[in-house]
This record gives sequence, structure tokens and C-alpha cells, in this order.
Amino acid sequence: MSEQGRFVTIEGIEGAGKSTCMQLAARVISDHGIELVQTREPGGTPLGEELRDLLLGHRHTGMSEDAELLLMFAARAEHLHRRIEPALEQGQWVLCDRFTDATYAYQGAGRGIPKDRISVLEQWVQGARRPDLTILMDLPVTLGLERAGRRSDPDRFEREDLAFFERVRQGYREIAAREPQRVRVVDASRALATVQDEIRGILEAFMEQVGND
Ligand code: TMP
Repeated sequence: MSEQGRFVTIEGIEGAGKSTCMQLAARVISDHGIELVQTREPGGTPLGEELRDLLLGHRHTGMSEDAELLLMFAARAEHLHRRIEPALEQGQWVLCDRFTDATYAYQGAGRGIPKDRISVLEQWVQGARRPDLTILMDLPVTLGLERAGRRSDPDRFEREDLAFFERVRQGYREIAAREPQRVRVVDASRALATVQDEIRGILEAFMEQVGND
């Protein structure tokens, strides 16, 4: 049986540059001859993408916080079952744009849902599965929103106010402070080339460490 793959996630508030980070990470990992599945949350499966439309669209703007939380985990359950776990079992790596840290940051810190309620669902849906490495793209909220603001047609989350995103950012930083080994914080406010060099360095160090395990 082949060795289990590794699970890498990218996190950050809107406008932090996750998409660019995803592209770079995919290239760096693939260049090492590692087979890679790229995916995202909420989404990553046909059901998950439909749930994403419900969560990000404007048809249910006033959905309850618990409904939002449960839909995130419904999408995640499907994603783990259909894509993430099968890929990892086959030895492929999974690179995912957001995962459960986003739930702690957005539904937990942002919306105010207590952490222990989220961790019950985390345990239920994921069992022992956690990301092996998380890159947190961090930058001041005003800068992130300014960058994201250039996009037309904001989704249901992008319409939240500054205070909401300040709480989300803080929520992410608290996770990183608690788990510095897993969560690597990248200061995304710097020049793109500097940010990319740091991301490349983090991934290369991680691949080397994993290779030596
Ligand atoms: P994005 O991945 O395109 O940035 O958009 C996904 C949005 O969904 C983003 O605003 C964060 C939000 N989200 C949550 O609120 N909780 C979650 O668990 C996840 C995965 C995403």
C-alpha cells in the first residue's frame, strides 16, 4: 500500500491573495513530482458546489447562523468522503482553498458561535482528520477589503462589515498562535514576489521534512 498523502490548506480573509497562493503552491508541490488534487471549500463536489451557491448567493441572505454552520459541515462531509480521503489514501496530496479553520474564523469568531459547538461537528465529520500544513495569508482587513473590493458582485460574506472581518482575522490569528507548527502565517501585505518566496520556502521545508519522516 502506498503512503498516505498530505493535506495542505490555504486560509485568509477576502483579498489576502489565496488564489495566487493556491496556484503557486500547486506548482511547487507538482514540481516535486507529487500527485496533487486541488480543491476548495465550501465546494469540491457536485453537492458541495450546490451548497456553496446557497451559502454564498443572495437567495437566503438571512439564513440562521446554525443553518450556515451545518451547511458548511454538510459540504465538508461530502468533500471528505468523496474526494479528500480517497485521494489521501491513494498517496495523492490534497491542496484545499479553505477548510475547518475558516469555520472557526467565520462562523466562530465572525458570527459568534461558541468554539465547542464547532468542535463537536469537527469531531463528528472529520474524526481525526486535520490538515498537515496550513498557510494563513494574513493582512490588515482594510487592505484585504480594498483588494477584494475591486471584484464586482460581492457574495453573501463579502457584504459583511469591517468589524466582522476584524473578528475573522483575529480568529485566524488565534488559531495560528495555538498551533504554530501546523499554521504558518504569511504577511500578505508585502510585495507579491516577497510573499511568493516565503510560500515557496514554507512548502519546500515541509516537503523536505515529510520526506525525512
Ligand atoms: P472563497 O473561498 O471564494 O474566499 O469564499 C468562500 C466564503 O465562504 C468566504 O467568505 C469564507 C466563507 N466560509 C465560511 O464562512 N466558513 C467555512 O467553513 C468556509 C470553508 C468558508
